[in-house]
Amino acid sequence: MTDTIESSLKAEHVLRPSKEFAAQANMNDPDIYQKAEDDPEGFWEGLADNIDWYHKWDKVLEWEPPHSQWFVGAKVNASYNCLDRHIRKNGDKVAIHWEGEMGNSESYTYKQLLESTCQFANGLKEIGVKKGDVVTIYLPMIPEAVIAMLACARIGAPHNVVFAGFSSDALAQRVGDAKSRYVITCDGYYHRGKLLDQKEKADKGLDKIEGVEKLVVVDHVANIVPMKDDRDIWWHDLIRGADTECEPEVMDSEDILFLMYTSGTTGKPKGVVHSTGGYLVGTYVTSNWIFDLKENDIYWCTADVGWITGHSYIVYGPLLNGATVVLYEGAPNYPDKDRFWDIIEMYGVTIFYTAPTAVRMFMKWGAKYPQMHDLSSLRLLGSVGEPINPKAWSWYYEQIGGSRCPIVDTWWQTETGMVMITSLPGLTPMKPGSATRPFPGIQASVLDKQGNRVPPGRGGYLAIENPWPSMIRTVYGDEQRFLDTYWSEWGTDIYLAGDGARVDEDGYFWILGRIDDVIKVAGHRLGTMEIESSLVSHPAVAEAAVDGKADEIKGEVIFAYVILSADVPESEELKQELIAHVAEEIGHIARPAGLIIAADLPKTRSGKIMRRVLKAITNGTDVGDVTTLQNPEIVEELKRKVKEASMH
Ligand code: WTA
Repeated sequence: MTDTIESSLKAEHVLRPSKEFAAQANMNDPDIYQKAEDDPEGFWEGLADNIDWYHKWDKVLEWEPPHSQWFVGAKVNASYNCLDRHIRKNGDKVAIHWEGEMGNSESYTYKQLLESTCQFANGLKEIGVKKGDVVTIYLPMIPEAVIAMLACARIGAPHNVVFAGFSSDALAQRVGDAKSRYVITCDGYYHRGKLLDQKEKADKGLDKIEGVEKLVVVDHVANIVPMKDDRDIWWHDLIRGADTECEPEVMDSEDILFLMYTSGTTGKPKGVVHSTGGYLVGTYVTSNWIFDLKENDIYWCTADVGWITGHSYIVYGPLLNGATVVLYEGAPNYPDKDRFWDIIEMYGVTIFYTAPTAVRMFMKWGAKYPQMHDLSSLRLLGSVGEPINPKAWSWYYEQIGGSRCPIVDTWWQTETGMVMITSLPGLTPMKPGSATRPFPGIQASVLDKQGNRVPPGRGGYLAIENPWPSMIRTVYGDEQRFLDTYWSEWGTDIYLAGDGARVDEDGYFWILGRIDDVIKVAGHRLGTMEIESSLVSHPAVAEAAVDGKADEIKGEVIFAYVILSADVPESEELKQELIAHVAEEIGHIARPAGLIIAADLPKTRSGKIMRRVLKAITNGTDVGDVTTLQNPEIVEELKRKVKEASMH
């Protein structure tokens, strides 16, 4: 590696961005951190000028912990900012290069994306959608997903995107909780060459709940699907003849832009509410500084639009910046393991943002796949979703980035809306495995239970100590849960992130993973309780516990313990049935990698499962003190079973 070591930093393995990169970077002012810290409101206010407002704010921030309002009184429209304002200068610039899994492709210029968005927005109005109505989008990675989101934003209807891989039950729960009367789906899509029937899943989900009035169906793969008379309408019929102009709705800065359901510590996912003005400012500037977006960049984020990363860094952030975005429908190994590198070469991708799980998988597949392609267009790499281990970091840096591209390791969450801890690629020396420093204007720290800062090197709870523009506003329909989950550990003005972390002697942050009942499987966020309730809903199951087991590729995989109902005999078929049951109820991503049938679980005298002990059993580490268990004898038995299960 050719980079020079930053002498002021104490730790080893520091890589500084090259002088060339630093010189051209969108943000290369080392004083920016101090400026932002001295006057955070002034800092964000200055950045808000990058957004076009119909009417500016009376006040930058109203902070009544834990409730924030940003750009109070300002008026704005998200879709106008992503589309219309680029048209005069950049109407013919490509906004989206869509690449289908089967090799088909489509490009939308900004002008075309605007027209399609307006047409669909008019279509939504036609079926009765009004400002404030929640529209659920249950679409795979196709342009219509982006168009639908922007069309909702255009008419002031909050969108509620549900990951296409989620099951019908998961869809039903999210549509039901959001009281959404309008749903958008498609007839199917390809994944690893297999046709998946999305419409069938949508139908099954909607059968379970009441209140959905219209289901709009994209004809994506010419799959023959049943259409329900009064409810279902084809996307193409809806937009046929629709006007390609649609006046954007003037929204209040604090109006809801979208809901995004995410897993937490209870069985029920929570609807994270994001509002408009602050979210736009936050995603605009983080995209601009962290991804260093320039006029000619071709930017590719491999996340799914169904997750927050897709919202903030496929759709809003990049389009607010007028960037050209690659949207890929399918799997990284279809038709072969070089598909991503083929796409990078074909489109000349300059900025590539992916997850550590993907990097570890590429590493396992071997460098020969990237070596089959010319990746010299790349100039910046990003990582998100889970900690990236130094080995994977270095492989990514060398094999994909040719030891030339800075890596931005970006820590953030559905709730934060924007990246919170990251390097700035033209400024920050990198340490493989560390997300480095809080973004300017963000005051992150690592605290103990009492709220004291822990000394460098020691682990603690990751906290954010000041408000930021794109922060979660509430949990949809459950304000109490909002207060309890994020603002009850140390008081209402310090945000509990739910991650463990440590800060090193250079002030660099090292994220250690979740401290609650959330498991990150291949970067996907799942709640243990959700999976446990799914298992318990099976008649054969009396009790279940679910845990994360360390995995070399996926970071963590799901490991389940099941106690059977009385008189139910144990069998291999039943195990497989239970595993399939979870996949069916939640989605394939929640499928347990291992499941054992247990006589009992490690419990305290009051009957609570001792999670710490279970975690040690699952991962084969030292269980520590078990004297407080009511059934210490179960520990050895479970350890033996886990070992057996892992050998299969
Ligand atoms: C984890 C994804 C380490 C973390 C944007 C967080 C990370 C959770 C990183 C949020 C990173 C995300 N390094 N861990 N760079 N980025 N995480 O809501 O545990 O799907 O709390 O948002 O992902 O997951 P979510």
